Amino acid sequence: MNNDLIKIAQHFQLEGEIANVKPLGEGFINDTFLISTKGPSPRYILQRKNKKIFSPIPAMMDNIEKVCQHIKKKVVATGGDPMREAMTVIPSINGKLYFLDEQEEYWAVCLFIENTMAYEAAKTPELAYSGGKGIGRFQSLVSDLKEPLVNILPGFHDIRFRYGQWDKVLANDPVGRKAEVSAEIEWIESRKAEMLAFWALVENREIPTRVSHNDTKINNILFDKKGDVLCVIDLDTVLSSTVLNDFGDAMRTYTNTGLEDDENLENVSMDIQIFEAFTKGYLEETSWFLNSKEIEYLAFSARYITYEQVLRFLMDYIDGDRYYKIKSAAHNLARARAQYKLLQSMESQYGEMQQIVRKYIKL
Ligand SMILES: Nc1ncnc2c1ncn2[C@@H]1O[C@H](COP(=O)(O)OP(=O)(O)O)[C@@H](O)[C@H]1O
Ligand SMILES: [Mg+2]
Repeated sequence: MNNDLIKIAQHFQLEGEIANVKPLGEGFINDTFLISTKGPSPRYILQRKNKKIFSPIPAMMDNIEKVCQHIKKKVVATGGDPMREAMTVIPSINGKLYFLDEQEEYWAVCLFIENTMAYEAAKTPELAYSGGKGIGRFQSLVSDLKEPLVNILPGFHDIRFRYGQWDKVLANDPVGRKAEVSAEIEWIESRKAEMLAFWALVENREIPTRVSHNDTKINNILFDKKGDVLCVIDLDTVLSSTVLNDFGDAMRTYTNTGLEDDENLENVSMDIQIFEAFTKGYLEETSWFLNSKEIEYLAFSARYITYEQVLRFLMDYIDGDRYYKIKSAAHNLARARAQYKLLQSMESQYGEMQQIVRKYIKL
């Protein structure tokens, strides 16, 4: 295997001679490896890209390269280090941004950024603040990237698209589960109007389309040894959409005091201190470019994304568990109920969430 990996790595424009290629981290989506070289040459990250989730991979790599080049220009203009404060995609020896092997697997390489820190979870206000800064800084750096990106995840966070799927699944009721979840179905139906009203603002561009990251986990942010944000990595999901999706999804995951599939609903609620800390960090970086509609709907985006997740888990349960991997027969239902508890917690604290947004907007 290692020999095969070395052969793959040799298809890229690397400095120095390859010493070894070793697996790095757990890799839920992509398989990630670290390429070490002999002597003083840099180390690199080699990834097999998941073509089941992202397609087409060449378009995805074009998106990543556009974003990296744009950020590098910005970093240079402000006197920063473009090799540390942005990802560097390493082309293949054929000048492509990827290498396609004989098994039709796509591989890509980027420079390994040395001397960084990463965090697996953001369970304290201090880390949530750093996470908000990281995502905010990223969005700010690409806020003036005018070239459109290819939409590699069509329908992503588009509730109108989801309702299309939802109506079909309910009409088919393929495994006869619909009757048993009529109360849960009502959770979705009763909120349709407010969710569509929000999405209509995105569709009519009152809430503009910008570059969003779409995988805002804190382990996708690299920090320097002082704990300051260096750069955001894992750019596979960058696309043109509303940046509120990033904020909302970060708040869905960061603020949950329980698990995404917690069976004990008592555990699940939105931690308003985490919400406040992330929002503070985020708005310190973004308030200069967000328009008044984006600010008005910032807190709402947490409800929107959490609601969408309730819908998706419930829909998959009714559909016979075809999309999400499950650990037990009712796993998707448990997930939907836990996310609904989180949604209710957000709804009951919505006034405070809006006050927090107003507090950190620089007028
Ligand atoms: N350019 C890089 N420099 C330093 N570390 C990196 C770099 N790219 C990835 N990593 C490390 O590898 C991990 C996995 O990479 P990532 O691109 O996030 O893959 P995945 O899609 O599996 O999450 C990251 O969380 C980070 O710790
Ligand atoms: Mg990642």
